[in-house]
Amino acid sequence: MPQKATSISFSNIAFIKYWGNRDAVYRIPLNDSVSMNLDHAFTTTTVEFDDKLNDDVIVIGGKEVDGSARARVVSHLDRVRKLANIETKARVRSQNNFPTSAGIASSASAFAALSLAATRAAGLEVSERDLSILARQASGSACRSIPGGFVEWIAGYSSADSYAVSIASPEHWELRDVVAIVSAEEKKVGSYEGHAAAQTSPFLWTRQSALPSRFHLVRRAILSKDLTLLGPAIEEDAIELHMMAMTSRPPIYYWTPGMVRVIQSVQQWRADGIGVYFTLDAGPNVHLICESKDVDRVAELARQVQDVQQIIVNAAGGAAHTIETHLF
Ligand code: DP6
Repeated sequence: MPQKATSISFSNIAFIKYWGNRDAVYRIPLNDSVSMNLDHAFTTTTVEFDDKLNDDVIVIGGKEVDGSARARVVSHLDRVRKLANIETKARVRSQNNFPTSAGIASSASAFAALSLAATRAAGLEVSERDLSILARQASGSACRSIPGGFVEWIAGYSSADSYAVSIASPEHWELRDVVAIVSAEEKKVGSYEGHAAAQTSPFLWTRQSALPSRFHLVRRAILSKDLTLLGPAIEEDAIELHMMAMTSRPPIYYWTPGMVRVIQSVQQWRADGIGVYFTLDAGPNVHLICESKDVDRVAELARQVQDVQQIIVNAAGGAAHTIETHLF
């Protein structure tokens, strides 16, 4: 049985957001979500099970981690050990190709890559669906980084039926995500707390009732490559995510002046005839969604907005996959 395996997995940006769980332990979300993998934001992870180890050793970005970051990885290794029926400890090394300080969500690519590398190293051949189910339990959005391209996560009602599948390949549409980094700080309130707080927002059910039709519209817009259909829906959804956060008890503010500046600029650029729309994550960075024909112009304009520190341009990324070059 192979003891060591390495995988690469791309981060993703949600067009319909996952915000709130039906079951927080298994991470069964309240609603279906849709995303695009990001080809310039990926994690590479090597896992090696070794009988000689007394404990798991986790190195992320060149540093051995402890505390809650370590505990989250060890819990996930435990899920894999249970599946493989082994007790062997593991050595894990993981690195992002993007600076962790860029404030891009890394838990999706990190736990997707860990799921694939750890199951392979444990000698398991797991289907894409089961890998997505496994990744979801470590970080909800990670289940969408297992399949490639444009992906939907059907919420389901139990762990066995809550997983993500690809709805279109990366080549299907030359859509781009220009990430405008306005803050490199780590977010103060993590998604886990955010999902729990969602239940306290008076707008939760208003949003939930609007989602089924928005979900189908976004899906249709992707399949028909229609940016003018996609754009308004993703902006609406992004604003609702932040509205939910701000109306939770206690409220969570991810907004910064830089973020608002970029959003207002997008409206101006659109008025000037450029096909660009924004979406947001649970943080202040703005994702500018446009087609490849407009990407250079959008990147150039974004760089000029006050407070924009860095730009990362992404096309749709592929599925999580293994590689032969190990990190150690
Ligand atoms: C705003 O997947 O990071 O990015 O399951 O607690 O790890 P955990 O949450 P996470 O939540 C993602 C929230 C979001 C929206 C999305 O990606 O759908």
